[in-house]
Amino acid sequence: MKLDRIVFAMAAAAGTMLPAAANVQIPVTTPSTALVLQVGDNGRLYQQYFGRKLADTSEYELAPRGAEAYITHGMEDYFEPALHINHADNNPSTELRYVSHRSEAQSDGSTLTTVTLTDPEYGSEVDLCYVTYPDVDIIKSYTVIRNGEKKPVELEKYASSMLHFDAPAYYLTQFNGDWINETTCSEAPLSFGKKTLDSKLGTRADMFVSPFFQLSLGEPAREEEGDMLVGTLGWTGNFSFTFEVDNNGKLRVISGINPYASQYTLGKGESFRTPEFIYTLSDGGRGKASRTFHDWARKYQVKKGMDDRYTLLNNWEATYFDFNEDKLIQLIGEAKELGVDMFLLDDGWFANKYPRHSDTQGLGDWDETADKLPNGIGRLTEEAKKQGVKFGLWIEPEMVNPKSELYEQHKDWVITLPNRDEYYFRNQLVLDLANPKVQDYVFGIVDGLMTKYPDIAFFKWDCNSPITNIYSNYEKENQTHLYVDYVRGLYNVLDRIAAKYPDLRMMLCSGGGGRTDYEGLKYFTEFWPSDNTDPVDRLFIQWGFSQLFPAKTQCAHVTTWNKNVSVKFRTDVAMMGKLGFDINLHDMSADDLKYCKNAIKEYNRLKPVILDGDQYRLVSPYSGQHASTMYVGKDRKKAVVFAFDVAPRSVEHLTNVKLRGLDPSAVYDVQEINRADASKGDVKSYSGDYLMTVGLPLFTTSRMSSRIYELTRK
Ligand code: GLA
Repeated sequence: MKLDRIVFAMAAAAGTMLPAAANVQIPVTTPSTALVLQVGDNGRLYQQYFGRKLADTSEYELAPRGAEAYITHGMEDYFEPALHINHADNNPSTELRYVSHRSEAQSDGSTLTTVTLTDPEYGSEVDLCYVTYPDVDIIKSYTVIRNGEKKPVELEKYASSMLHFDAPAYYLTQFNGDWINETTCSEAPLSFGKKTLDSKLGTRADMFVSPFFQLSLGEPAREEEGDMLVGTLGWTGNFSFTFEVDNNGKLRVISGINPYASQYTLGKGESFRTPEFIYTLSDGGRGKASRTFHDWARKYQVKKGMDDRYTLLNNWEATYFDFNEDKLIQLIGEAKELGVDMFLLDDGWFANKYPRHSDTQGLGDWDETADKLPNGIGRLTEEAKKQGVKFGLWIEPEMVNPKSELYEQHKDWVITLPNRDEYYFRNQLVLDLANPKVQDYVFGIVDGLMTKYPDIAFFKWDCNSPITNIYSNYEKENQTHLYVDYVRGLYNVLDRIAAKYPDLRMMLCSGGGGRTDYEGLKYFTEFWPSDNTDPVDRLFIQWGFSQLFPAKTQCAHVTTWNKNVSVKFRTDVAMMGKLGFDINLHDMSADDLKYCKNAIKEYNRLKPVILDGDQYRLVSPYSGQHASTMYVGKDRKKAVVFAFDVAPRSVEHLTNVKLRGLDPSAVYDVQEINRADASKGDVKSYSGDYLMTVGLPLFTTSRMSSRIYELTRK
């Protein structure tokens, strides 16, 4: 124990405060915001200030002090706590007093500020940890709870973060939906009481609601103006965000693992680290918050966040389970012909006793189906190499069909209840990743494939079932640890894969967008937002995910969903993300194929702007008739504007759309590209000032039409 902690503990035990500690101020700052914590006369820690940075830091002291920074159950507060520990003597209360704080530089350039608090009576400690960055307004916050008692304690609630607000009104935007209907945005005011956004799904945790929110302060959220908190939990499992407005109109936001059925016992001396709550305080509405998240994600969080991405041809919608070696070899050739970087083989290539001819069987048996692929994956990677495209492979390694050899041999590895009939989600069950043997097995699937076929460049890692029949053979008397230990087990596997195969890229998929969190994306280069690839629906789904995730991470494929809509429209929508195709080229007309080939070339030319530039959402698809988004290169030399007419009225009064993010003093050449005949339009020049003040007539009254404009600074 450090000397200051010992001194403090002694003073606190004697019922006195260390005089030097009172009023200690702990600033946690980003380039333009400050979260200032302060020790009160009673030794407890308060949120003194959270807002835009003040020029004179001594004035934080003058701000009206907020509530206790990390409120504990059982003391004098009447609302939702952040922490609830049941002590060994059954005392359910905890009091936390300041011990010390320190700041340390991290290897990625960020700073970690740790504030250590202790319960003087019981000796347990809590570290409140904050990670900040020199160049981006993001704070990551988590806690470490240490059991300093002689016997085990039970954590009942263990939030990652608690934040307090005092604004005239609060408006919460949530993103919920279901399979093929992810991230529908809706906003509602918060009034007295609690609103919770949470998940109890375990694995496919985000199927019904995404693990992120926007909280607008004082007024409903706007795209480019207004103050708002935007936050997300980095946790590939059950999450919970609680928003509680109290009797005085003050709001607390509590974020962390969902404590539902997840009481966690900590043995003597053990500690529990919560996942990171990642947030930004924007004074420029949703748009600024999104751009902040995108910058941070690329630079600091997402696997290979600053690197390029592979365009691809996926066989799922072209073949479903119905393929063989010849068909795949043909598709690999088509990937080459199309001009994409990679061919991705989807579900249906494995299992022999119960061949994977549908989703009813075979999951768990990861050997190639002999009659489909007599020469194994090796023949396919060889063909891909010959064609000069990369090869990717679908796996769903956390799951098992009851109709599989794995299930027959290792039922004890399966999450399933004793004395109950099993029930299935998509005919499958979840393996017990809390069990280290299962972790070894899951790691072994990837390791085995990579060892045998080192030319595999990419995995699509799927996860189609939530945790059902919740019971672990491994956890024994600690059943409430399962939701947490499962995710830790998953990270253990992913850490091992990342360490052994640092260049391996992976797509995070969960029956569409059922797993979309930033801790997961440390291991994955991208995610599959939805199985719904209808381009109109995709405008909404991509709009929703773009609130926090950069285009680079959002896979967007051209398919045959909504065939009534032109290939151009479908491709234009997909070009706003990480472009791919999931379509049979022979179902396309020669003109459509020509269009797609040209679009890929244009995409390759413009992807530094789309994938790495600043995104401005100009017109929301929720407005009904149209949608528009633009991307501006970081040096403002290039921009790409996408415009969609979805359901305009034929007599609609159309107005210009003002562009954003350009250099007002520069002159830009504006040219329509990717026209239906793959040609380009005439070049017209405008100043950035004009484009942002007067705008362009981006829209038409033609239903389901789209246009892409390229802007080039002269
Ligand atoms: C999930 C994925 C799809 C596809 C199928 C295969 O639904 O989201 O993209 O891979 O599984 O079974």
